[in-house]
Amino acid sequence: MNKPLIDVLNGHTLKAPPIWLMRQAGRYLPEYRPLRAQAGGFLDLVFNPDLATEVTLQPIKRFGFDAAILFSDILVVPHALGQQVAFAAGEGPVLEPVKDRTDFEQLNSELDHQVLAPVYETVRRVKAGLPPSVALLGFCGAPWTVATYMIAGRGTRDQAPARMFAYRDAAAFDVLMDVLVEASASYLVRQLQAGADAVQIFDTWAGVLAPEQFARWCIAPTKRIVAMVRQQIPGAKIIGFPRGAGSQLPGYVAETGVDGAGLDWMIDRAFARDQVQSRVAVQGNLDPLVLLAGGIALDRAVDAVMAAFAPGRFIFNLGHGILPETPIAHVEQMLKRVRGA
Ligand code: CP3
Repeated sequence: MNKPLIDVLNGHTLKAPPIWLMRQAGRYLPEYRPLRAQAGGFLDLVFNPDLATEVTLQPIKRFGFDAAILFSDILVVPHALGQQVAFAAGEGPVLEPVKDRTDFEQLNSELDHQVLAPVYETVRRVKAGLPPSVALLGFCGAPWTVATYMIAGRGTRDQAPARMFAYRDAAAFDVLMDVLVEASASYLVRQLQAGADAVQIFDTWAGVLAPEQFARWCIAPTKRIVAMVRQQIPGAKIIGFPRGAGSQLPGYVAETGVDGAGLDWMIDRAFARDQVQSRVAVQGNLDPLVLLAGGIALDRAVDAVMAAFAPGRFIFNLGHGILPETPIAHVEQMLKRVRGA
């Protein structure tokens, strides 16, 4: 049986677009919260294949989405490189910051796949539990975005610590990026080998990079990851999501060779349709805030997304992750409108 999402990545236009939501497993789902509490820490949940499998499947069971995304986090990569990573309740990720070259040299240069073995086990179990028409997505963070957390030790508004690190010690920064390229590619390969049908590379903080930096730290590392993954898994399907790329998105798509491009909610839709959807599948780009708002504003926004992209190769999604306060009823309203349209 066909998987609509994979058909779209293969270049087909479908009558109704496949749909899934970034961060579709999580706190906005009442059934998530008890499992999260049962696990203790967030990483305990991620590294528990029983619970992580169930959490991955929850949004599929409730909404019938066309893709499941592995329940994990982009920061398991620094964790498996030996960096201390914790998720403080209500605070987001907290890492032991990599302040300089010496801190960086304390880390391993290769992923410890033993640490990540439970994640690969989750992929196998989810695959076995999914209806055949539902695609299973693996993912990783792009090197730039992961580096911003490794260096700052937390989320930052403008990613200044990572940008500062790169200005002060460009050579060390390049070595860090090389380590992350290798680690990310091997992490994605293992997920694909375990049964992921496609993978997404999240570059959440690509939008703060000036054009030369975007070329060097967003496009070039992603291009290498795509090539390394396809060398081991020929034809591997890959979605790139350089959030905030704006006018640089067509160049990103052309150079990296991704099969699909994630669109944030800020991008000009006519531009994205003409310059990006003409070459690859696009995925997006409903504002998560309008999904939270609901009502007539939500209907209008869904219609605008559909009008722009549904005539071509398109995967309906948000322009960034779903907000934890989002009412379930709004997700149902959106789904009905996308599928009924
Ligand atoms: O459902 C899914 O999308 C799959 C799982 C997933 C998570 N994180 C689970 C998670 C995915 C794909 C991610 C990606 C991720 N993680 C990104 C890239 C996408 C994006 O949103 O920009 C980034 C930057 C991270 C790092 C991260 N993890 C942050 C900044 C936070 C704290 C903010 C928050 O949303 O809580 C996390 C924690 C996290 N990752 C949670 C979940 C469900 C919440 C943890 C909890 O339940 O306590």
